[in-house]
Amino acid sequence: MSGTGHLDGNSLRDQYAGFLSACPDYAATLPLDTVRATEFSRLDRLGHVYLDYTGGGLYAESQIRDQMSFLLGTVLGNPHSSNPTSSTSDELVERCRSRILRFFNAPENEYVAIFTGNASQALKLVGEAYPFSPDSHLLLTFDNHNSANGLREYAREKGTTTCYLPIVPPDLRIAEGAITSCMCQRDGDHDKLFVYPAQSNFSGVQHPLEWVDLAHERGWDVVLDAAAFVPTNRLDIARWRPEYVPVSFYKMFGYPTGIGALIARRDALEKLRRPWFAGGTITVASVQADQYFLHTGPAGFEDGTLNYACLPAVERGLDFLDSVGMETIHTRVSCLSGWLLDEMTGLEHGNGAPLVRIYGPADNGCRGGTIAFNVYDPAGEAVDHLEVERRANTWNISLRTGCFCNPGAGEMALGITKDEIVTCFTQADSRMTFNEFRQCIDEKSTGAVRISLGVASNFADAAAFIQFMKTFRET
Ligand SMILES: Cc1ncc(COP(=O)(O)O)c(C=O)c1O
Repeated sequence: MSGTGHLDGNSLRDQYAGFLSACPDYAATLPLDTVRATEFSRLDRLGHVYLDYTGGGLYAESQIRDQMSFLLGTVLGNPHSSNPTSSTSDELVERCRSRILRFFNAPENEYVAIFTGNASQALKLVGEAYPFSPDSHLLLTFDNHNSANGLREYAREKGTTTCYLPIVPPDLRIAEGAITSCMCQRDGDHDKLFVYPAQSNFSGVQHPLEWVDLAHERGWDVVLDAAAFVPTNRLDIARWRPEYVPVSFYKMFGYPTGIGALIARRDALEKLRRPWFAGGTITVASVQADQYFLHTGPAGFEDGTLNYACLPAVERGLDFLDSVGMETIHTRVSCLSGWLLDEMTGLEHGNGAPLVRIYGPADNGCRGGTIAFNVYDPAGEAVDHLEVERRANTWNISLRTGCFCNPGAGEMALGITKDEIVTCFTQADSRMTFNEFRQCIDEKSTGAVRISLGVASNFADAAAFIQFMKTFRET
């Protein structure tokens, strides 16, 4: 089944013409159609409609070819030694660090790139080492990813109070003024950490980067969770100067998986106190003296051996994105998501009942190409999101369902109250599976469907998805 297999040529052409006149900026992104044909031909050859870029990006074919021939023409040894193969690896690791900083316009004298396994591990590095105390404060947003929510457990252990900024339905944005009033109530000289996503992986909402300035004016350190933002938006770190920025590279360009980074301001890094040491993080450690000295800079935060054979592929991925142009990717994703939002909100059953309810902004302002929603029947009952996924699978459409590791956004979007959730947690002995939780919150949907766009998305993908959605329409 091809990406347009459910559409006849004329219908697709008509829709495309309408789309182009509604979003004239799309014309500037047409070179991406060639990129799709040359670098992502496997999508159409295998008939995939890929709509899960927020879950994981796709790699360009040239990234893999170049990495293969590089590996075949090089001998790499474990870094941190002066032998020739080790020196080669060391050189490549440092080159990759510089490339990452350059990509995000983070000046090398002010920032370092610390390699981690993914964005979650980057967040954990901050959480376990931030100087939380009973006097400090942690501020999170309701739509943080669970890997950011988890920081509250490190805070709790040290007696730090955590406060959450609520998101307000239906747009699922944070009310203007909420952030300043929350920060003003926590004045004083103590350590204060604000953690927020530049883009919500649930609703696609893009929170203002200006919040970094606002937080700094009030003495807060900022973790800008950029994992869902950077695959389709340019992040200029020198402009915003956040203390800590976690990213996962597979979300940006598909390969390699298993490598992320914590991009940290050098002065902010000095604030962190690691709770342990490991191979690679120390200059000296002694068993008899029961002492150790940590490396300064990134090495002090990189536990064990780096994924040195794959690291050069990160450079190739960044080169690929630069060659295509982040602005071009951004424009394409923005045009396609605007069209999808319009089409989805216009879908109706025969009795006039809406077919789709979007969770998050239904227009295209200050949002990325991630759209969360549920499908409804003519009586206004939600169709189980798992059923939507099951049917999408038969169309070879890859979308995602559930709460996307973002429980706060899910609770707000689906109208699940604190009392309902607390009751479920109280009923459970020690653990509860997601299915048991679904039964506990009966009558309510415990999840949503999410589609998301990226570098290889084209109009045919969007049109095929809308065609699929129309199969839920009852006349
Ligand atoms: C906003 C955000 N933060 C953090 C993460 C965690 O990323 P990873 O699973 O790659 O560690 C994700 C993953 O989807 C995300 O979207």
